[in-house]
Amino acid sequence: MDGTYSQNDLSHVVEADKAHVWHHLVQHKAFDSKDPNIIIEGKGMRVWNQAGKEHLDAVSGGVWTVNVGYGRERIAKAVYEQLMRVNYFAGAAGSVPGALFAEKLIEKMPGLTRVYYTNSGSEANEKAFKMIRQIAHKRYGGKKHKILYRDRDYHGTTIACLSAGGQDERNAQYGPFTPGFVRVPHCLEYRKHEQEGAPAANYGEWAADQIEQVILAEGPDTIGGLCLEPVTAGGGVIPAPEGYWQKVQEICRKYDILLHIDEVVCGVGRTGTWFGYQHYGIEPDFVTMAKGVASGYAAIACCVTSERVFDMFKDDADDPMNYFRDISTFGGCTAGPAAAIENMAIIEDEGLLANTAAMGDYMTDQLNALADRHAVIGDVRGKGLFLGAELVADRTSKEPVPEAQVQAVVGDCMGQGVIIGATNRSVPGRNNTLCFSPALIATKDDIDQIVSAVDGALGRVFG
Ligand SMILES: Cc1ncc(COP(=O)(O)O)c(C=O)c1O
Repeated sequence: MDGTYSQNDLSHVVEADKAHVWHHLVQHKAFDSKDPNIIIEGKGMRVWNQAGKEHLDAVSGGVWTVNVGYGRERIAKAVYEQLMRVNYFAGAAGSVPGALFAEKLIEKMPGLTRVYYTNSGSEANEKAFKMIRQIAHKRYGGKKHKILYRDRDYHGTTIACLSAGGQDERNAQYGPFTPGFVRVPHCLEYRKHEQEGAPAANYGEWAADQIEQVILAEGPDTIGGLCLEPVTAGGGVIPAPEGYWQKVQEICRKYDILLHIDEVVCGVGRTGTWFGYQHYGIEPDFVTMAKGVASGYAAIACCVTSERVFDMFKDDADDPMNYFRDISTFGGCTAGPAAAIENMAIIEDEGLLANTAAMGDYMTDQLNALADRHAVIGDVRGKGLFLGAELVADRTSKEPVPEAQVQAVVGDCMGQGVIIGATNRSVPGRNNTLCFSPALIATKDDIDQIVSAVDGALGRVFG
């Protein structure tokens, strides 16, 4: 920290926060006896709190967002310059950074052509849901309106997104939900013993077949879309097993179902490719993205589609209803695309995709080595710098450790000045996965420090 804030300033900030801020995802009773953590500065991989304590951030701003790291002057300057030129105009008009970022983004997404700007991942997903619904009305008399989503996946915080949410604990107490969303089973091979009929071999194909079973039970003529995370994030860091994606693509083509990939977490480098789906050679109809698009330097999210989808909203200009009758007020903010252009340029200039792939492999090896020493690590999985370690009380039964112990590991690391994450209040009885998503600039030294903190914490919590 550079001493910008005096101790007086900071104690006032803490009091103001405690008196008036309602923090996200937090039970506030804890603040009767302790202060909230207030992050006051960030540089590279590190952040400092109000006590001046340095933390190595292994979760990119808590929720896998700050992909290029903190303190990027180049992004801040671009945003400043854009704001001084023009900060906003509603998205019925265009903007210079909006056009230029769309062009840059589409270069990375062969097969897709159109970018719809919004301001959050939830909202981007809602846009895809609305487009699928409108297509159902236009082409199928409204019948092909159902949207499939997967157990353990998360697509956002609004009621419609929770209706497409596969995390029952996150959804609890927020119903009733929006009709027309139908769940398909998860594809977590490590827990296939909990799924009736799961085979010993070819699990990926089997898991995809379960989607087809749901389609057949519901009626293929009622299903308009299938929404999936490329790697499930908050539901347990779950990359799909071998053979899964190819089959998913075949099923979508067979039943004329639009494939919507939610890249809100994986998008823009997190897994070592621009987008998570690009590891698997699939061709989505919708790709939504948010967190890493501008690394949190400005709010921006995108719903990207193909020309085939876009054309369905413009082919009959005589029909007054035949266009996407939707607006996102803050989708017209110019700071978002201005920041996103620089964010993408940084990833290119600094070779961060290659670094993510290499450091992801290194971190996977280090976590697997940790599993040799700590029997509580049942499974290490993920892609690039998006990794999870599932903690189990017993490797044979795979019984999950209690969530309180998982949180104790997170708390111990925090005490050591390393911020890691864990699945929390998401899937009932299955909130037992430690989560790691350091910025794409992470070095071996950073990873060693993270893994060593986890090593110490596991030793103290589990013995
Ligand atoms: C996979 C996924 N989709 C969508 C969202 C929602 O994004 P936002 O919080 O920007 O609305 C999240 C947020 O964590 C997410 O993890």
